[in-house]
Amino acid sequence: MALNRALIFLGPPGAGKGTQAKRVAQRHHVPHLSTGDMLRDAIAHGTRLGLVAKPIMDRGDLVPDDLVMAMVEERLAEPDCVGGFIFDGFPRTLPQAEMLESVLARRGFGEPLVVDFRVDEQTLLRRLAGRWMCGKCGAIYNVYDAPPKAAGTCDIDGGKLIQRPDDRPEVVTERLRAYERQTKPLTDYYRRQGVLEVVDASAGVEEVGRAVAEILERAQKRDGHL
Ligand code: AP5
Repeated sequence: MALNRALIFLGPPGAGKGTQAKRVAQRHHVPHLSTGDMLRDAIAHGTRLGLVAKPIMDRGDLVPDDLVMAMVEERLAEPDCVGGFIFDGFPRTLPQAEMLESVLARRGFGEPLVVDFRVDEQTLLRRLAGRWMCGKCGAIYNVYDAPPKAAGTCDIDGGKLIQRPDDRPEVVTERLRAYERQTKPLTDYYRRQGVLEVVDASAGVEEVGRAVAEILERAQKRDGHL
């Protein structure tokens, strides 16, 4: 079933946005647009954007809005985005949210649906400390809650599992600060627009997945897509 909309997953680092975005993207056959993944890809390829972004991401700050917007606009112009998409980790500042509004209008999309992932800080720290990712396909694991079948190896493609450099405790502290300062105000912004839905993301992966699916179903019924 197509989404026909922009879905935005909002929430602090480690809230489970990426985990749920991958599932929804698969179920609805729409692209999962993670600005974090795009920036890491730019770093891996040594592009100019990557060179600028690396030191900023290494210290847990946000990459400048104009660079992120240019990257997102380029991605949205690709044909796979016509039936909707999921933003994971974008927008992250008020200027990004405002710019996104006009980009969506230009591309013929209505209001976005925004899901705010709420989790307490202790749970976030545990999730980030335990996260491992496949270096090949990006599948996400957790040594505490979602371990791979064989330690250090991806269940899906046998790729080597790696830890993100910005999951070091001192960088995590900065990322959480950046979230509180620059991204959390977006919840009020979207609440005022009447497009904000909240999930208790401290529950298990399956339970959070069900809550997200219900939100989507309700929205699609409202829109007459079901
Ligand atoms: P980004 O890559 O977007 O990181 P983030 O937002 O900090 O979020 P994470 O990817 O850390 O967490 P997540 O919520 O996706 O959790 P996950 O599903 O992996 O950004 C990185 C950096 O890029 C930023 O700091 C910034 O510098 C830059 N950047 C990116 N976008 C930008 C933008 N728009 N503007 C400016 N700069 C930008 O889950 C975490 C762990 O928990 C995993 O191990 C998982 O298995 C586990 N888990 C998930 N859900 C559950 C559950 N329900 N129960 C138990 N365990 C769970």
